[in-house]
Amino acid sequence: MWFFRSPRIVFGEDSLSFLSMVESKRFLIVTDRYLAGTKILEKVKKAIPPDSETMVFAKIGSEPLLSEMTSDMDSIYRFNPEVIIGLGGGSSMDAAKIIFALYEKPGLSAYDITPMDNFGFGSRSKLVAIPTTSGTGSECSWAAVFSDDREKRKNEVASPEILPDYAILDPDLVLDLPREQTVNTAVDAITHAVESYVSQWNNHYSDILAEKALSLITPNLSRVLSDPHDVAARESVHIGASMAGLSFSNSQIGLAHALGHALGACFNIPHGKTVGLYLPEVVRYNYNKAGVK
Ligand SMILES: [Fe+2]
Repeated sequence: MWFFRSPRIVFGEDSLSFLSMVESKRFLIVTDRYLAGTKILEKVKKAIPPDSETMVFAKIGSEPLLSEMTSDMDSIYRFNPEVIIGLGGGSSMDAAKIIFALYEKPGLSAYDITPMDNFGFGSRSKLVAIPTTSGTGSECSWAAVFSDDREKRKNEVASPEILPDYAILDPDLVLDLPREQTVNTAVDAITHAVESYVSQWNNHYSDILAEKALSLITPNLSRVLSDPHDVAARESVHIGASMAGLSFSNSQIGLAHALGHALGACFNIPHGKTVGLYLPEVVRYNYNKAGVK
C-alpha cells in the first residue's frame, strides 16, 4: 500500500496574495538572516492580513544548524502562532518544519521526528512553505535536514506530519535570485528528479513528476540565465523544482544525496554543488540496474 502525499499548492504570478485569504490572528515567519533585510520579507508581511499579528524569526544561516532553529522557542510558544511560514531556501523551510513540530509538541526533540510515530501535529497551527529559491523541493517534502553543531554531519528526519499544508510558488520571489544560487539550486532539483526516477521506490506518480520536472527545468534554465527577469522561464523552473521535490518525496533520493550531504557537512559547500558533483558518477553506477529507463 502506497500513499501519494502533497501539500495544497498555490502557484503562478500573484500567488503570494493567497496569504491574505488565510484566516489567522498570528503569523510566525521563519526565515534566514539574509532575507531579513530584503524586499521579499516586506512583500510577505504585506500579504498577511493587516489585522493579524506577525512575528519574524530570522536567525537561520546558510547551514541549517539545530541550535539556531531552536534558539527562540520560548518566544515562539508565548507568541502562540496559528500559522507558521517557512520563507527562504531549504534551510529556512526545514527550520520551519522543525519549529512547527516542537511547537506542536513541546518537549519533543528534533531527533524524535520519525514516520513511525503519530504525533498529532497540526492542532495548534498550519504550516506554509514559500520557497525563494528553485531547487530544494522542501516545500513539497515531509523531510527536514539539520546540522548538529557538535558533529560535522547532517541529519535528516521525516514524518508525513511535517509536510506543509500549503506551498506557495510565486515566481516574483525568485526573479532576483543570484546567478550562482540559481544554478546550484537548479542542479539540486535536476538531481532530485534523476535520483527519484531510478529509485527502487519509484512509482507511476513519482516518474511522471520527475519527467515533467526535467522537461520544465532544463530548457528554461538557460533562458533564465540569459534573462534572469524572464518571468515565464523563472516560473517554469520554479514549478519544475517543486515537481522534482514532490517526485522524490513520493519515492526516494539516492547515492548522490548521501555523498553530497557528507561532503557538504564536512566542507561547508552548497548542497546543489555537492550533489551535482556526484550525480554523473552515480548515474554511471546505477546504469546497469536502471539503464532501461
Ligand atoms: Fe537535494
